[in-house]
Amino acid sequence: MKLLLLVIQRIHTPAVYVGHRRCVSSCASNGLSPLRDDALVVGSSRELVQALGSQVQVKTAFITEEEEGAFLKELEPGLKKKRYEFDHWDDAIHGFRETERVSWGAACEDVLNRLRSVAFPAGSTLLGPVHILDLDKKGYIKPHIDSVKFCGSTIAGLSLLSDSIMRLVKEDAPNEWLDLLLPRRSLYILRDEARHKFTHEILKDEDSVFNGHRVPRLRRISVICRNLPS
Ligand code: OGA
Ligand code: MN
Repeated sequence: MKLLLLVIQRIHTPAVYVGHRRCVSSCASNGLSPLRDDALVVGSSRELVQALGSQVQVKTAFITEEEEGAFLKELEPGLKKKRYEFDHWDDAIHGFRETERVSWGAACEDVLNRLRSVAFPAGSTLLGPVHILDLDKKGYIKPHIDSVKFCGSTIAGLSLLSDSIMRLVKEDAPNEWLDLLLPRRSLYILRDEARHKFTHEILKDEDSVFNGHRVPRLRRISVICRNLPS
């Protein structure tokens, strides 16, 4: 069975926002530059940004250009054989192709070990295959929560080829939200409530504005690791 079908629970209709979004950053907001990691998360209130601070992390430049190249070299041949899927209007993901991989060359395995050691609680059992999601420039991920049946407390993903914006919206209080700027080659980690009580999505190019700054969304490949429920 496709990994995606396993891990994604189709949630609810996407939240609709009316009017102006007031953005509050966890630090004195000075735009995108310099890209301090705490400037990569903004939200509907300072309290929410602070409350979820330890459950939402973005680590800039988690991998080098060479390491990104190593992933692309391993992944591109397999991905190129697949076609982007656009036509299933009710899917959680639009304009994507995907694969999964268990064994990796040394350079990628080194990165994945580094990722596992920073992202997952000691002793967690990880979902064996790593999930690879290749979003077309026109592709995007609609709001969803990963299946609690198949995935545990933590989701961690590398972003290759493009910057993007991940939006988290509280499932039972849609006016509570966070936007995460995911720079190319960064790592993001969602844990606990941020993973269970908030939907997450990757914005489409035309909506890709972070704290008032336009963030062009190109083709993006994510490399996603998950643990199993305990
Ligand atoms: C998913 C998902 C996020 C990403 O596949 O469930 O939310 O970074 N992916 O691609
Ligand atoms: Mn997901």
